[in-house]
Amino acid sequence: MKVIAYRAGGQVVGYADACPHMGVPLPWEPDDYLTDDGRFFRCASHGALFDLDGNCVFGPCKGERLTALPLEVRDGDVWLLLHR
Ligand code: FES
Repeated sequence: MKVIAYRAGGQVVGYADACPHMGVPLPWEPDDYLTDDGRFFRCASHGALFDLDGNCVFGPCKGERLTALPLEVRDGDVWLLLHR
């Protein structure tokens, strides 16, 4: 699973790199997740835009959202917290 990790202030938020429209990764080029103005994540396949809270605000999956993943920063490293 690929993970989108985004630093927002002192926090790091994470999402599964899977567009809710068709389940494909968002970018066509490595690390090309954000719009030029940095306000949205963009899906390269059909142009969906997601606000930084993961909500799709434009495109074929409008009203859906990216799957949030629990991330935590420990001693400068980013950890994905998985629970069984
Ligand atoms: S696969 Fe992302 S908008 Fe269609």
